[in-house]
Amino acid sequence: MTPGRSKLPDVGTTIFTVVSRRSGELGALNLGQGFPDYDIDPRLAELVGQAMREGHNQYAPMEGLIELREGIARKLALSYGLSVDPHCEITVTLGATEAIYCGIQALAGPGDEAIVFDPAYDSYEPAVRLAGARCVRLPLMPPQFRYDWDRVRAAINAHTRLILFNSPHNPACTTAMAGDLDELAAAIRGRDIVVLSDEVYEHMVFDGRAHASVLTQPELRERSMAVFSFGKTLHATGLRVGYSVAPAPLSAELRKVHQFNTFSIANPLQRAIAAYLAERPQTGRDLPGFFQAKRDRLRSRLAHCGFSLPPAQGTFFQLLDFGELCPPGDVAFAERTLTEAKVATIPLSPFYAEPPELSVVRLCIAKRDDTLDRAAERLAQLAQRLGRA
Ligand SMILES: Cc1ncc(COP(=O)(O)O)c(C=O)c1O
Repeated sequence: MTPGRSKLPDVGTTIFTVVSRRSGELGALNLGQGFPDYDIDPRLAELVGQAMREGHNQYAPMEGLIELREGIARKLALSYGLSVDPHCEITVTLGATEAIYCGIQALAGPGDEAIVFDPAYDSYEPAVRLAGARCVRLPLMPPQFRYDWDRVRAAINAHTRLILFNSPHNPACTTAMAGDLDELAAAIRGRDIVVLSDEVYEHMVFDGRAHASVLTQPELRERSMAVFSFGKTLHATGLRVGYSVAPAPLSAELRKVHQFNTFSIANPLQRAIAAYLAERPQTGRDLPGFFQAKRDRLRSRLAHCGFSLPPAQGTFFQLLDFGELCPPGDVAFAERTLTEAKVATIPLSPFYAEPPELSVVRLCIAKRDDTLDRAAERLAQLAQRLGRA
């Protein structure tokens, strides 16, 4: 590559890949990258094998198998009471990542601005820049990581084309409230702005809360593209099957990009997920309890050791606050958990354009109980050493 010709000169390998690689090299417990270390439902594996044996191994339709899109529509009806047309409002994509990428390429272009809330999932900004548009990054400040709606309204202008919204929020572990959706709807009212809402953790909302999907807010339903991930919902991040839900005109634009990006998603996987949803229409409904138990297990084992544990309202992560034990600096602290405690964690700074002073790192709770217990023990020992230092 001729120097200066890179379209993303400042983009390196993601923090997740780097941390997972180093975690493997050091034999650490990987609570960094967000993926389960336990088995998937064997029934899903059987259904994938069955679909391949039955010969469903050629191209699937570009927009996704209708059986799967109908299953998704039933799931949306059951979860949120929504009526979604599987023919023209649902598109099956290669994970949520592809839906986000194609949505941004389809909707934003040169001269456009996309509002992104920091700490932001790392695929948003490169996708906006590759579309020729520009990100306006608004920080959510610790410890609450709440939206400053005055600041959002002030950032909106005639160039604003997209708002990237994420709830439950990775890595802040917060969930949007119905009031946030109303503020968002009011902020874009009368303007040609689309909300791209990343809802991959829709089923990981704790303590009796309900997930506030943009699809449930009537004004936002007309102006939003919401993206979801079977990787998260089925504990199988390697499936790489996700989907977007958007009004027909927005879905049509998304599909124009999707058909020349991945074209269509693995046929046997789509068949298997469609069959799985048909057999288990309640899929996802057990996840709040499942992950809340893991969150509480990790929290109880880390209680009283010197770290503090900010509330985790959703996602499959828990923040660990080391502010009482050592000076701020989350990148340096994540390095210490990795090298001294042999527990991989993720700092939040890389998710900010201009990181504030941070005293938290992110832990993934989607792990076997024994992994969580061992990681907690190692982190508690680190806390003890830091407390003595
Ligand atoms: C906030 C957020 N959005 C999107 C994704 C990507 O989802 P998928 O694995 O389905 O591409 C992730 C994965 O970690 C995520 O945390």
